[in-house]
Amino acid sequence: MTTTQAVARSPQDLNQFRHPLDPLTISEVATAVAIARNDKHLGRHYRFAVVSLQEPDKSVVHSFQPGDPIERQVFLVILDNDTGISYEAIVSLNQDCLISWQPMPGIQPRIMTDEVVEAEAAIKAHPDFQTALAKRGITNLDLVMVDPWVPGHFGLAEEEGVRLARSLCWLRSSPTDNAYAHPIENLVPIVDLNKMQVVRVEDHGVVPVPSSPGNYGPDFIKEYRQDLKPLQIIQPEGPSFTVEGHLVRWQKWQFRVGFCPREGLVLHTVGYEDNGKLRPILYRASLAEMVVPYGDPRPNHFRKNAFDVGEIGLGTLTNSLKLGCDCLGEIHYFDAVVADSRGGSILIENAICLHEEDYGILWKHVDWRIEDTQVRRSRRLVISFIASIDNYEYGFFWYFYQDGTIQCEIKLTGILLCAALNNTPQYGTLVAPELNALNHQHTFCVRLDMSVDGEQNSVYEVHTEAIPLGPDNPYGNAFVAKKTLLASESEAQQLIDPFSARYWQISNSNVLNALGQPVSYKLLPGDNVLPFAHPDSSILKRAGFMTKHFWATPYHPAERYPAGEYPNQHPGGQGLPKWTEGDRPLENTDLVVWYVFGHHHIPRPEDWPVMPVAYIGFQLKPAGFFDCNPGLDVPPSPKHSTCHAQP
Ligand code: CO
Repeated sequence: MTTTQAVARSPQDLNQFRHPLDPLTISEVATAVAIARNDKHLGRHYRFAVVSLQEPDKSVVHSFQPGDPIERQVFLVILDNDTGISYEAIVSLNQDCLISWQPMPGIQPRIMTDEVVEAEAAIKAHPDFQTALAKRGITNLDLVMVDPWVPGHFGLAEEEGVRLARSLCWLRSSPTDNAYAHPIENLVPIVDLNKMQVVRVEDHGVVPVPSSPGNYGPDFIKEYRQDLKPLQIIQPEGPSFTVEGHLVRWQKWQFRVGFCPREGLVLHTVGYEDNGKLRPILYRASLAEMVVPYGDPRPNHFRKNAFDVGEIGLGTLTNSLKLGCDCLGEIHYFDAVVADSRGGSILIENAICLHEEDYGILWKHVDWRIEDTQVRRSRRLVISFIASIDNYEYGFFWYFYQDGTIQCEIKLTGILLCAALNNTPQYGTLVAPELNALNHQHTFCVRLDMSVDGEQNSVYEVHTEAIPLGPDNPYGNAFVAKKTLLASESEAQQLIDPFSARYWQISNSNVLNALGQPVSYKLLPGDNVLPFAHPDSSILKRAGFMTKHFWATPYHPAERYPAGEYPNQHPGGQGLPKWTEGDRPLENTDLVVWYVFGHHHIPRPEDWPVMPVAYIGFQLKPAGFFDCNPGLDVPPSPKHSTCHAQP
């Protein structure tokens, strides 16, 4: 089939704003699935674990001009439930054919939502499970909730090659009750997901199910506070951004919105227009992995180590956002498309939110002698999505500022994972009678494919040191910032050091600012922590990326995910620790930096029954990228603007 015919099949291809990095459309997902299915005669026992855009080479993106023909390819991971073998496939939509098909023995793709639904039904129907419930006095199956979880890898022969889910069980007290308040402790049904059969039901002993309600919805709140006046965001002339297809322009910022079922929102080709020239900063940015290790060693808790990106496919769990609730003001939404495990296309409406926010003061100075006050308000562009993964919600927010700063902020909310308390609370905090919220961490890894004024970048560690007392520091006050080139991958494995104000600077020595300095952005870390898991623990082998806060690698298209392509049931060693063994040189090359940041969660009673948002993130700040404050040209607020001071 020719390109023209492919275009005819997908009317959006005619759209003048189409671009090679656009996320897959409904019809592209359907077509890719159909091509693979027809070519390989895939029956009902095949599941589509991944259907995502096969991103084109950078050269294609760099040379692309609007209206150019677009070659669209789709990457698929397909699981044969009969044999347990998975296949990686690439489909060409233009050529209407499968262009590669690779068996991938030994890997387990992510756990898919419909596997979870089917596994829950299989567990509830199983007599051993019903017997275990009866031992606890539970007879109404409709009120039982089962969350199948990824099992991890603990070197057990019986688990090798078996696609497994181990489950957590909960009990609602009524159909709309919060089940997470009532853990059915010590009950672990295990399912073979390929056969969709219960392997066994582990029962580590009956513990009374905690009975205190943990509800938060309107039906359960006796009285709302009465003193909230309306707060409206009004932009009478509309927002200051424009959207053409998936290209966003806001003041001097420009980027493309991408989406993939694994990582969710992807930012492509982020640049800043400076003196009429679009200056690249980031080629691609995404949340490449996250892992949530829990700290309770008991039999039904020690395996809680979910990799929500690689093992589950965070993007597939993206919320459909609601105006006025999730987002306030003049909003532009982007929809997203994912596939279900049978290859059906699912449209997630309003998946990605784009809007502007007032952000206080951008800069200010009062020159009291001449009675001159200059102040500018800061405005930021926000692009975000929210994913719900069982009990937890994660909001992933990127902010663009008028001073050239890019900020990544993750908002953690939802419901704590609790255990029934049958003695003093260990490994957790009592958050309700009989309810022990378990200690855990959320470790995120963002992959930043840098392109600071071009692809040839170098990375430096910068920290501050006091000068030893002596002729250079006679009064003991002197300190300097010390900059060290990280010339290879081993040198670039770094930890934060708040006491020396450490940051990392990504520079392009081929481009100098007006002061003769290499143009640079710096990665400024925020809150962070290290894992508490032992170096020999399963989770540290599987998520070795967690042991460092900062990594840098030369760009390689196959190096996408810091714990490897297929972390589910994998013994570990893949990803960043593996790639960096060769200690490749990093100077003046196409660089990818990986920032790893951990949110440490010792629960509080105030996190119950639903957690107020906790925040974690980092910033990319221009550091010599511009010749001076790039926000000088932000105009003063209009005199008549809405300032209603009390008389
Ligand atoms: Co938490």
